[in-house]
Amino acid sequence: SNLIYYPSIDSTNNEAKKEAAAGAPEGTVIIADEQTGGRGRLGRQWVSPKGTGIWMSIILKPELEPAEAAKITQLTAASVATALRNVTGCEAGIKWPNDIIINKKKVCGILTEMSAELNSVNHIIVGMGINVNVDPEEFPEEVRSIATSVKESVGHEIYRKEIVLEILRIFEDLYLDFIRRKSIDKSVGICRKYSVTLGNQVRIISKDKVVYAEAVDLTEDGELLIRNEAGEIEKIISGEVSVRG
Ligand code: BTN
Repeated sequence: SNLIYYPSIDSTNNEAKKEAAAGAPEGTVIIADEQTGGRGRLGRQWVSPKGTGIWMSIILKPELEPAEAAKITQLTAASVATALRNVTGCEAGIKWPNDIIINKKKVCGILTEMSAELNSVNHIIVGMGINVNVDPEEFPEEVRSIATSVKESVGHEIYRKEIVLEILRIFEDLYLDFIRRKSIDKSVGICRKYSVTLGNQVRIISKDKVVYAEAVDLTEDGELLIRNEAGEIEKIISGEVSVRG
């Protein structure tokens, strides 16, 4: 399929958005060796140094309702965690809803963005930033204590292409299964298995309040079930909250 490579670009998500609007087909992959304006969630910056990470976005055109976009994040998390495990043998975990963790530190973030009408999605861009051979001193000061790289955890450099190919292989398998069966249960099964969130106490931070709860399970659609302080089970939908350990 369609893979577009840039030695340097502002953001692969921005580029994917433009390409999607210009008619690029589903499955188009944008990958860059460096991003000069990499973006994270909540308007944060995503530092993307040259030659050391996987900065990649995939264009999707599924028939989905806008509220279902978060399913793509779960599918992507399942793909990245499995690929990192397969290629490197590391114990990659998934911090719901969109971080991949090794040794309690973040190794990858996922940024899912969509263009949608009232009831249907035009396209979804799923971007992933994976710190593969990034050295600790390359991380900005403020994230140094919470960020890691694959290299730091396995002790040697990893060939990025091998990880990219494994991610795309698994992603395609999970995505086609999702389109065929209209269910992400296969991805959710992987997210459950590798979750570092389930069974733990979490702080759910939404606009006006902080809630302490126990993360209990994921629903079939990839939403988080928590037991709140009153002992009731609540469903948490990603995008509205920040979940901390
Ligand atoms: C996060 O954890 O806040 C999400 C980080 C997402 C970073 C990736 S790198 C490739 C793609 N292009 C971007 O500008 N952001 C995503």
